[in-house]
Amino acid sequence: MSHYALADFVADLKAISAETTGEEVITRQVVPLAKQLVSEGDWSDPALRECDPGQGFGITILNEETDNALLVEVICWLPERGVAPHDHQTWGVVVGIEGEETNVDWRRNDDGSRPDFADLSLEAERVIGPGDACAFMPDDIHGVRNTGEAPSLSLHVYGYSPASRDRSEFDPLTKTRRPCPQRVRRRV
Ligand SMILES: [Fe+2]
Repeated sequence: MSHYALADFVADLKAISAETTGEEVITRQVVPLAKQLVSEGDWSDPALRECDPGQGFGITILNEETDNALLVEVICWLPERGVAPHDHQTWGVVVGIEGEETNVDWRRNDDGSRPDFADLSLEAERVIGPGDACAFMPDDIHGVRNTGEAPSLSLHVYGYSPASRDRSEFDPLTKTRRPCPQRVRRRV
């Protein structure tokens, strides 16, 4: 029996997103497929584990359609490195491949009417290990940190490339919002 490969997954993503634009409906269908891709895929390529020491992680793009749609990428995080709270302005699904990534979900308390201000409070913290999944709606805010002792690896799937969206990064301590910095990404 042939295994579920990236091409099968991308074909399914296209079919699902042609059917509906409802983010909750899409992510409900994408989560089990992304888990299947993780469990049946080959993630042994050392190139997937090359990290940019400046940003603390490495991103390898596996698929991106024209118009920046259906981005599939693998992220490798160095131990104790992570990213500040941010949104995605598109739906997202993450599945752990190896290691331990802690996801911190934040709730926004203000109405977003002041461009540089954001009042966030901690909502939940969850550890994503191999085979664990989480899904994000466009305005959800989360931060990520590799809380394990080794580099971690995870599969990330987005409706559109986050780099193409007008998204935000937040500092909960200073209650500030700014445009999310562009990440260093490479293609296979
Ligand atoms: Fe994120």
